[in-house]
Amino acid sequence: MTPDSYGDFHYRGKKLFCGDVCIEDIAHQFGTPVYIYSAGHFRDQYSAFTKAFKKIPHRIFYAVKSNANLSVIREFHQLGAGMDVNSEGEMLRAMKAGVKGNEMILTGVGKSAAEIRAGLEQGVTMIKAESKDELALIDRIAGEMGLTAPVAIRVNPDVNPRTHPYISTGLSENKFGISKPLALNIYKNYQEFPNIRFTGIDMHIGSQITATAPFKEAVDKLAEVYFEVKRGGLHLEHFDIGGGIGIRYEDETPFTPDGLASVISPTLKELDCDIFFEPGRYLTGNGGILVVKVLYIKEAEDKHFIVTDGAMNDLLRPSIYDAYHHVQPLTLRDQPEVVTDVVGPVCESGDFFTRKRALQTPEHNELLAVMSAGAYGMVMSSNYNARRRVPEVMVDGNKFRLIRSRETYDHLLYDEADLLNGNSI
Ligand code: LLP
Repeated sequence: MTPDSYGDFHYRGKKLFCGDVCIEDIAHQFGTPVYIYSAGHFRDQYSAFTKAFKKIPHRIFYAVKSNANLSVIREFHQLGAGMDVNSEGEMLRAMKAGVKGNEMILTGVGKSAAEIRAGLEQGVTMIKAESKDELALIDRIAGEMGLTAPVAIRVNPDVNPRTHPYISTGLSENKFGISKPLALNIYKNYQEFPNIRFTGIDMHIGSQITATAPFKEAVDKLAEVYFEVKRGGLHLEHFDIGGGIGIRYEDETPFTPDGLASVISPTLKELDCDIFFEPGRYLTGNGGILVVKVLYIKEAEDKHFIVTDGAMNDLLRPSIYDAYHHVQPLTLRDQPEVVTDVVGPVCESGDFFTRKRALQTPEHNELLAVMSAGAYGMVMSSNYNARRRVPEVMVDGNKFRLIRSRETYDHLLYDEADLLNGNSI
């Protein structure tokens, strides 16, 4: 196990810090497990992104699904980001964080009628349509509301993003988007949907993409559609590239926004419209960690386990994608390493953070950091095994504050309170 730094998380002497705050101090105050985020990292990533594309007229819509904490949304909103919301719930959270309807885009492969209606009521900048069926519904609802709906077609460019199959979305076999020929046909016959104004074209080919080539290929394919639509007399106002930029979890060397800009800008500059981006993980992933405590150390002849108080319900990624998350101690103790599985208390063998990983020989009650947990961490957590969702803390420079408290057992019983009060169970 090599001590490592991720974003703002680094060792100062023997202690893991975020900015100027010793992580141990946070864990002692709020207990474990606990998610800890770095506002500084969020800002740095956002500014690297905007700088890379400063010569291109663009807007960034932060993908709320990666981390939907109100304070995180607010942080990006204050930096100037709009929001990519994938459900009515995400829209509500964004609004509670101060985001206006016209600063949002509404995405998702299966939006309900209620969600489409809510998006139109709030006046979102654009609704993405992922099927002809959905276009018909959007058209009908907009007509009922006496509105014209701003819509972009999500085109599936049939490009292999070379990422985990569960988070690849740009292949024709994936459920997402509309094929190029069908999209062209819809744009050509736009009068079929009198209550829709086709404002844009969109793609999102996958997540945790670490090479620029798939982006280049997909952007070029989408540009072909854009120009053909233009030749047909329809001017599109925005060209949405989606999200998907990968980060370092282990030893990946992902491209930077500058690297992406140099590859796709030549095509983007030929377009006569705004470019939209929907980054999530790039902005938040390495801006967060999950801190857990060692409960038990189990040594068998050929196996070594560290059982922590954190589990798969708190951070699901290792269990469902076999995703690598670096685990490192909050205090370096110059101990020899041991090859171990770091696991949680949930009743499943799939409940692990790492398997067969070399780690400093643990001590009881020692605190460990599971790195790169700022994206798709807390948002994918659950109450499995009736465990309470953990608190979230934001570090900013030399200060930190609680941005979501630990759930109480009342939270777990809330929706059954009526039954409990009536003693009818
Ligand atoms: N836009 C759309 C339409 C998306 O579906 C997504 C992510 C994004 C933007 C943001 O992608 P990002 O920049 O974060 O890669 N739970 C998985 C990731 C699922 C991604 C879903 N869509 C994970 O933990 O890896």
